[in-house]
Amino acid sequence: MVSGTQLMEKVLFKIAKQWIAGNTIDDALTSAKNAYQSGRHAIVNKLGEYHTSKKQITTTVNEYQKIINSFRKWKIRGAVSVKPTQIGLSISQKECYRNFEKIILNARNAHVFVWLDMESSEHTDETIEIYNKFFSKYERLGIALQANLKRTEDDLIDLLRIGAKIRLVKGAYREKASISFKSKEDVDKNFVKLMKILFKKGNEFGIASHDGKIIKKAENLSKKYPKKFEFQMLKGIRDELKPKLIKKKFVVSDYIPYGVNWLPYSIRRIKERKRNILLLGSSLIQS
Ligand code: FDA
Repeated sequence: MVSGTQLMEKVLFKIAKQWIAGNTIDDALTSAKNAYQSGRHAIVNKLGEYHTSKKQITTTVNEYQKIINSFRKWKIRGAVSVKPTQIGLSISQKECYRNFEKIILNARNAHVFVWLDMESSEHTDETIEIYNKFFSKYERLGIALQANLKRTEDDLIDLLRIGAKIRLVKGAYREKASISFKSKEDVDKNFVKLMKILFKKGNEFGIASHDGKIIKKAENLSKKYPKKFEFQMLKGIRDELKPKLIKKKFVVSDYIPYGVNWLPYSIRRIKERKRNILLLGSSLIQS
């Protein structure tokens, strides 16, 4: 007999499949190839964070290396996106640096772009430190910054001084009111403010949002400031908009997560949108 938890997980997986490539590295590579054949670039992320098992960390690092090598072999315009706590930051800074160095050396040989995801605010300083250290060794390295944090404007200005490559996101983590903007209105306002700074002072950046109003504003800014940038969106979200942007000659990247740790990621996506909560409800009723 199927228990309530098993049923819930089965229904969630059915919904989650639109946002994740699957459980394995082969699923991720197939998804990246499909994105590439449809005119999009691929940014692959192995799901999972806060790893403290050295075995799990080594597997994660090896898989990123395999993905980088496959991109090189297949000549796919792709990148990997790494979370510091999945490659050792939850053990020590030294462990994280040692592992990130392996990924960076590999990426440098293969000419593959590497992104650093930004996790919750307790890791912002450490993540920027990692970026600064490795950006001096490898220029095809980018870092995500979150518009919901009040500190981000200063971080952005500092990072742009060294020519950093930025992915601007709204921010996926629940943060204290003292350090963050809480309402959607304030986060959106700050996003637009930071995006203007990026268009004026940055280059090779990513506007990572599914928000139609923000995307329109970015399109307009790009006419005034013709910079090298791309729209980045999660796999399976705003798929109707992506070809339209490509047709207008914008670069669009699909962020493609894979791996067995799909549940927290998918719950985040469900919570983001009322329609997805309704979809979960109706799927449960039908099961
Ligand atoms: P918001 O959530 O305000 O939604 C605006 C509109 O977009 C909605 O009204 C709807 O039209 C559409 N939309 C949004 N979500 C949808 C969904 N699930 N299904 C259908 N439509 C939807 N965060 C972080 O903290 N660190 C990181 O490193 C990253 N990295 C990252 C990479 C990439 C490529 C993306 C796209 C996002 C991230 N994020 C992230 C996540 C980010 O911070 C944020 O939580 C989500 O992108 C949702 O915010 P939006 O900008 O889409 O706007």
